[in-house]
Amino acid sequence: MSKIIIFSGAGISAESGISTFRDSGGLWEEYDVSVVCNHDSLEKNESLTIEFYDKRRLDLEDKESNYAHDIIADLKNKYPNDIAVITQNVDNLFQKAGLKQEDVIHLHGFMNEVRCQECSDIVNIGYRSLYDSNNGFCKPCGAKLRPNIVFFGEAAPMYEVLNKEVQDCEFFIVIGTSGNVVGVNMIAQFVEKSILNNYEQSDAIDDVLFDKVLYKKATDAIEEIAQDIEEFLSEQ
Ligand code: APR
Repeated sequence: MSKIIIFSGAGISAESGISTFRDSGGLWEEYDVSVVCNHDSLEKNESLTIEFYDKRRLDLEDKESNYAHDIIADLKNKYPNDIAVITQNVDNLFQKAGLKQEDVIHLHGFMNEVRCQECSDIVNIGYRSLYDSNNGFCKPCGAKLRPNIVFFGEAAPMYEVLNKEVQDCEFFIVIGTSGNVVGVNMIAQFVEKSILNNYEQSDAIDDVLFDKVLYKKATDAIEEIAQDIEEFLSEQ
């Protein structure tokens, strides 16, 4: 397990033009989260839910990684066994920055994938509509496909991976999350060293729990964060 966790949320992709959720003008202002991102959304509003994710998937096509993704990808490729890149984001910008799929832990799923509702077979459909993949049905078993995204109220199996990584974590770096879903306060109390980088303070994060707090854009904070990581690893 890695000594360093770089944990990110929607804020790290904001400068790439991808909406965050809870900032003013965020996605949850535009869409009712209980309609399109709830455990019963597919049952109650199947076409609206599929359309919502089809639109967000297509929107990803012309988005590029930004300097924060790029620096993190370089660090992960340089120290593959010392750094875990764990994100709440479902976009593919770390992959566009040069990370292999298996080098990014996506806690809430991955926008370019769809999953069979029966046999859980996963297909990467790129930026296409779910219905373009075998008309929305699973090739192996014929059941309906769904976005491979964790909806509110659903199990998030990758949280087990996060919990395991936290056990060995000595340096916890949080970038661009309001802390409303994953409890970063608890992790910050548990580890030896921590950095919080957010654009602004969040009510859900107790920043006194962090050794270093950088209230600025991720692209403006990332060089200092990278220096701290290099220094930390040189002392190991
Ligand atoms: N640089 C750094 N931080 C930024 C930037 C930026 N350029 N822009 C915004 N932020 C910060 C905001 O200050 C805010 O604290 O990013 C955070 C975004 O918070 P949310 O919109 O709540 O997104 P996130 O924390 O990722 O949401 C967690 O909630 O809706 C669910 O599943 C969804 O994964 C998501 C989870």
